[in-house]
Amino acid sequence: MSDQEPAIGIDLGTTNSVVATVRDGVPRVIPNRAGQALTPSIVAVAKNGKKLVGALAKRQAITNAENTVFAAKRLIGRRWGSKEVEDARRVLPYPLVAGPEGNDVRVQLAGHTYAIPEISAMVLSELKADAEAWFGRPISRAVITVPAYFNDGQRHATKDAGRIAGLEVLRIINEPTSAALAYGFGKQVERKVVVFDLGGGTFDISILDIGKSVYDVVAVGGDTYLGGEDFDRRIIDWLTFGFAKENGGVDLREDKMALQRLKDSAERAKIELSGTSTAAIHLPFLVGGGEGKPALHLDRQIGREKLEELTRDLVDRCIAVTERTLKDAGVRPAQVGEVILVGGMTRMPRVQKAVKDFFAREPCRGVHPEEVVALGAAIQAHALTAPQSGAEVLLLDVTPQNLGIMVVGGYFQTIIPRNTTVPTSETHLFTTVQDNQTAVRIAVLQGASERAVDNELLGEFVLGGIRPARRGEVEIEVTFEISADGIVGVSARDVVTGQQQSITVTATSGLTEEEMKRILDERVDELLEKKQSTQEYELRKDRVGPVLAEIEGLRPAVQEALERTRFGKDAVQKAEGVLARVRQAMDAHDSAALAELEEALERTLQLFKGLAEAGRGQGPGRGDG
Ligand SMILES: Nc1ncnc2c1ncn2[C@@H]1O[C@H](COP(=O)(O)OP(=O)(O)OP(=O)(O)O)[C@@H](O)[C@H]1O
Ligand SMILES: [Mg+2]
Repeated sequence: MSDQEPAIGIDLGTTNSVVATVRDGVPRVIPNRAGQALTPSIVAVAKNGKKLVGALAKRQAITNAENTVFAAKRLIGRRWGSKEVEDARRVLPYPLVAGPEGNDVRVQLAGHTYAIPEISAMVLSELKADAEAWFGRPISRAVITVPAYFNDGQRHATKDAGRIAGLEVLRIINEPTSAALAYGFGKQVERKVVVFDLGGGTFDISILDIGKSVYDVVAVGGDTYLGGEDFDRRIIDWLTFGFAKENGGVDLREDKMALQRLKDSAERAKIELSGTSTAAIHLPFLVGGGEGKPALHLDRQIGREKLEELTRDLVDRCIAVTERTLKDAGVRPAQVGEVILVGGMTRMPRVQKAVKDFFAREPCRGVHPEEVVALGAAIQAHALTAPQSGAEVLLLDVTPQNLGIMVVGGYFQTIIPRNTTVPTSETHLFTTVQDNQTAVRIAVLQGASERAVDNELLGEFVLGGIRPARRGEVEIEVTFEISADGIVGVSARDVVTGQQQSITVTATSGLTEEEMKRILDERVDELLEKKQSTQEYELRKDRVGPVLAEIEGLRPAVQEALERTRFGKDAVQKAEGVLARVRQAMDAHDSAALAELEEALERTLQLFKGLAEAGRGQGPGRGDG
């Protein structure tokens, strides 16, 4: 191979992180300097002031709980005052404080205050150093994965962490997509797969159509606050409750060292119960001693059934999200060709059974649940940096949540619906709502509610200097763009004067619920309303027309591809339905219908492109495939 600097893929997990690369055409995990594939995502400052990362940090967690940070991924890109942060503050042994603007979360560690991306950067730096030791050369380029259900702020913060660690972040990709990439690597797979990823902190479900080297994500769902940590917590609560009952109300939660020991044994017992039917938890001298009081010990047995009872609702939540996501995508469990289990928590028999029952099939056993995400990231990193190697893959990922702006009445107007393939851009026309309105305010939100205040505010800006006119006469074009990383940019433009304002939505705009309410209530006279007019139809037609033409141009190649392979027949049939509806909407000058179809049309174009390429047999196949 050339002496081009190799690129790496990093799975920055809640519990464990993994780094991988493609060497001699084969994706492989890079062991850390201690020889392990998994590096605990734990950062600490030891009693002697030394910074520790990974297994070393984990090993001293019990005696140094206050200065040991774990599960930082659950806090990244979150707002101070949000429900998740409040939850975390209640249970974490290390102190959290608000950032200087009062909106983001900081960690206090040995007298210093760190932003969460700085903590994650320490883990990333460690992995970078491991890769450098393995390659024997500096490494600077990486693809980093995030849960599919991460929002814009969380993606931004992760990218920042990479930059702080001295990495050029080639791309942020979704963990389940990454897992699918590794699953399909070198296999010529053509089927619909579901990736069920239950890790230490997050749950993701993704449905993909895989065809040769085209990975078309159909839908994603998930919960960024549901994972192994919650299973551990259930055991901890059960133990502390029982302990208090047996020992006259002694509350273990007040003792940080006891709590850390409990956490450790709870996790150990949980893991053990995946292989055995009972586990013993034995913690001598857990609390007390001193001042003449006897030391207290904890000794308990926990059975698998007990664990399953304590965590039943967590498993149910995973299945509920799975069900919703499939329904959203119009996919029946029986249509799924393969179910891929990812994440350490899917080793729990009860989780496997729930998945198996839901899909009425055995999940795939061929992937390593903790390593597969990093392998996929490595494949993507390789495809991005060594395109001449014939390793191209076409990733068509989607945006997990509706994105839009607040309009008059406090409503949420979706501009890019969830499950839209990225990168994408979308423009809608709005008008002023007051006579002589001089400014318009664009509050950028994401979420599922029709009411703006129930959704998450990603940022806002004001477009001023609007020319005086009657209400409804000034037209403002609002454009949303989502990059391949899933990061959002928004701009607003006065159609006549060309005056423009834009922002890249950033994580630092984190706000408390109250601030959010206040901001949304302010300056309501500067809002917009949706424009419904012939101009909108013209605008849509101008966008849809060329796409339609491009699709028609690809038709012969697609036909040819279909003659050679079974794959894609259903998808093309569905696509024909979309094309017919688009033509109908064009004939009827129905801009609303066109708006709704635009995304499906774009997806059709991507599908046709992918099929045409595959049909030509020149890639994105892997050359030797
Ligand atoms: N055999 C097992 N049985 C049950 N749980 C297990 C087993 N092995 C590992 N786990 C749990 O899996 C979780 C870690 O999984 P994994 O390494 O996939 O998570 P992660 O990638 O760090 O997290 P995330 O993807 O949510 O950010 C931990 O909660 C761990 O306790
Ligand atoms: Mg993971």
